Amino acid sequence: MRQERTRVAVVGAGPAGLVLAMLLAREGVDAVVVDHRTREEIEGTVRAGILEQGTVELLDACGAGERIGVDGVRHDGIGIRVDGTTHRVDLRAHTGRSVWLYPQHEVLRDLFAWHRDHRTDLRLGVSGVAVTDTGDDGAVLTFTGADGVAVELACEALAGCDGSRSVVRGAIPDRVRTDHFRALPFAWFGVLVEAPPSAKELVYASSERGFALISSRTPTLQRMYFQCDPAESTSDWSDARVLDELQARVGGVDGFGLVEGPVVARDVIPMRSYVCEPMRHRRVFLAGDAAHTVPPTGAKGLNLAVADVVLLARALTDLLVHRRGGAADRYATDAARRVWRTQQFSYRMTTMLHPQPGADPFDEQRRRAEVGHLVSSQRAAAELAEAYVGWPLPAVGNSGGPR
Ligand code: PHB
Repeated sequence: MRQERTRVAVVGAGPAGLVLAMLLAREGVDAVVVDHRTREEIEGTVRAGILEQGTVELLDACGAGERIGVDGVRHDGIGIRVDGTTHRVDLRAHTGRSVWLYPQHEVLRDLFAWHRDHRTDLRLGVSGVAVTDTGDDGAVLTFTGADGVAVELACEALAGCDGSRSVVRGAIPDRVRTDHFRALPFAWFGVLVEAPPSAKELVYASSERGFALISSRTPTLQRMYFQCDPAESTSDWSDARVLDELQARVGGVDGFGLVEGPVVARDVIPMRSYVCEPMRHRRVFLAGDAAHTVPPTGAKGLNLAVADVVLLARALTDLLVHRRGGAADRYATDAARRVWRTQQFSYRMTTMLHPQPGADPFDEQRRRAEVGHLVSSQRAAAELAEAYVGWPLPAVGNSGGPR
């Protein structure tokens, strides 16, 4: 075993791990990032495409946001479609802020480019990652590098940014850990359609046949979803059946319809809510999907991961550079506050827009009344807009580190 040392070992080179390593580098804190996936595998993960304004500003401030300004599309509103009519929620009028349509794999490309330029120590394609020791002053991680050499990496802090199947989470013992879990009784059938956009802004449609969402990836590639059974199999759906189902859910009296094209990818996305508490144990810290999952409605996953690591970078800088433990001691509580608010927002947006299979008629009428209220009350729309564009992030520090 080769013995190595670093200040922060980051497990996971997804958005949480790469943004954390970037923020730490700006503070002059050394980190090693390990991931069992290769860069191509990481960049190939298909995820949501909406960035909160705070996420864009953070990436910009770090010098990783340039392409968002070129290829990203600012969205100042969203459409809520109900009873065949689109009701626009004007995000900018309600909040003065916007969101950006910019797919997650592009964010990952930008972050990898940043780390290449700043020579971050990234170990990709490793195997057998395990946490072998956790103490009050640090932790030890073992893995086998892509070159086949076994490594024992001692660190002063360990960041678990390793997604929903987190290995690092296991280092928080069961006796102190609570796993809050809620499965939803439906899933999303996601497709990529080769066609021009059907609308200028995202359309969230709630119809009797179920929910549908019309989003976009590029001017020639559209991302669409419709609510389905979690056990649905993509092979049972021809292109025509997929497009008919989407048309039936978004069409209406105003003549709105989808621009159709070949379906070039399809997947079924389960819907669940999960929170692990606490997000810290001794020198082990969790961030992003390792600590929580939100249902995809509202596209909060990446944005919440970024919010976590802004707090975590500050906590680790205070702890390791300034030798002050206050922010690290507060990390679990501070992060959980936004995590639960985001859970509530994503859960509410999901349950409001998706009819529940087999729902009691009382509950179904209550759900419809909630959507009806949203599209007829400016106050209700303002509340949704505030959460949709994202609550403010804490300011990021930069004590003279690289930009
Ligand atoms: C997406 O583009 O994949 C997307 C957009 C908005 C959502 C969820 C997913 O609420």
